[in-house]
Amino acid sequence: MTVRNRIEVMHGVNLDQLERRDPAHYGAMSLPELERLIEGYASELELTARFFQSNHEGAFVEHLHRLEGMADGIVLNPGAWTHYSYAIRDALELTRLPAIEVHLSDVEHREPWRAQSVLRDICAGRVSGKGPEGYREALALLRTELEA
Ligand code: DQA
Repeated sequence: MTVRNRIEVMHGVNLDQLERRDPAHYGAMSLPELERLIEGYASELELTARFFQSNHEGAFVEHLHRLEGMADGIVLNPGAWTHYSYAIRDALELTRLPAIEVHLSDVEHREPWRAQSVLRDICAGRVSGKGPEGYREALALLRTELEA
């Protein structure tokens, strides 16, 4: 049996500025620190994580285009694009890879526009409001998906 353990962890717009954002929602960690933590969660689950971040929607879309044969699943936090980018939705859909949507903050209980996700129904799962720990849950969900 082929082991499917290659996870692409994708962060979108403004997440490279994590340590400068409102700590009440995002904590104090920088993106490189968060990625190191995620790497640890992944190895505990016997998954391999590869990371990508962009502030450019087209670059994010093109990265999704390139994933065929390179990844077995996706954990993505597209930031504000989550709430309106049909371009990212279409690109995610065409990967045909299982994906889990993650948000550090509790998007359901902030401004009403954050409660909307244009990706939700094409993702295998969603974790929000659990801070960095949420990525552990997302990876565990994805692992279950990949084992199915
Ligand atoms: C976010 C929530 C989004 O609403 C916001 O635009 C972000 C980060 C989160 O991780 O909580 O940039 O995706």
